[in-house]
Amino acid sequence: MEKLGRNDHCWCGSGKKYKSCHMAMDEKIHHYELEGHIVPRHDMLKSREQIEGIKESSVINIAVLDEVAKMIGPGVSTEEIDKLVYDVTTRMGGIPAPLNYEGFPKSVCTSINEVVCHGIPSPDRILQEGDIVNVDVSTIYKGYFSDSSRMFCIGEVSEEKKKLVQVTKECVELGLEQVKPWNFLGDMAQVINDHAKANGYSVVVDIGGHGVGLEFHEEPFVSYVTKAGTEMLMVPGMVFTIEPMVNMGTSEIYIDDKDGWTVYTEDGKPSAQWEITVAVTQDGHEVLTY
Ligand code: MF3
Ligand code: CO
Repeated sequence: MEKLGRNDHCWCGSGKKYKSCHMAMDEKIHHYELEGHIVPRHDMLKSREQIEGIKESSVINIAVLDEVAKMIGPGVSTEEIDKLVYDVTTRMGGIPAPLNYEGFPKSVCTSINEVVCHGIPSPDRILQEGDIVNVDVSTIYKGYFSDSSRMFCIGEVSEEKKKLVQVTKECVELGLEQVKPWNFLGDMAQVINDHAKANGYSVVVDIGGHGVGLEFHEEPFVSYVTKAGTEMLMVPGMVFTIEPMVNMGTSEIYIDDKDGWTVYTEDGKPSAQWEITVAVTQDGHEVLTY
């Protein structure tokens, strides 16, 4: 941490004196650090202006998913979803973040049934009655990134798949309750993992959430299988995703070696995921995408 004098300008760019801006917060963070906890660097904390920018990006992100919700159903191909995501995002002045991201070929991820995440839209994959599908939309607007995903049940879906989708949503909501300053990322992970396990499900270990806002994927990596009281301290200004992948069977996964992207459950059983972007505020949290 920078060694700022009490009367120096605060590191956050507010123009205020350090002592009347972030000094008390930094002292508190430092106290946790001395106790051996992982704490965020200043560059992981977003300013008010940056959060406003991420919120503008989130408006597009949510609008895109609302449009997907209107058109998705039996007989719709995942390619049509991809086209809609591209069209709505660009019409609103945004850029779909997945497009060309590390070589990803499409504007959105569509992950059906036993596909855990990073499914690639295709004209050959037509949604059918009984499918559960995650549509993961990530948006860039004026350089700011937002990220969220929803599950859609296509037509009549089996009770056991419906329950997986519902419990996964509850996992995100329970995790969100843990997001407040001076809690730990592990507090959130613990309630998510506990709720999944209590329903006989497992949470994916190797893929998780992330800081987001100025880049698509920022530090910290956000696990949903770690323990309460561990992992990074939550501090006002942090912005990250809550996006647990919950599997009906084993947590083991593998990546399609032909396309290098599609992630499947090892046992072929269904997987569900919901994703929101959340900011830690002075007294709790603010949901930026849902
Ligand atoms: N949207 C995913 C996430 O929630 C990341 C997808 S990367 C992509 O983090 F390249 F597949 F789009
Ligand atoms: Co994400």
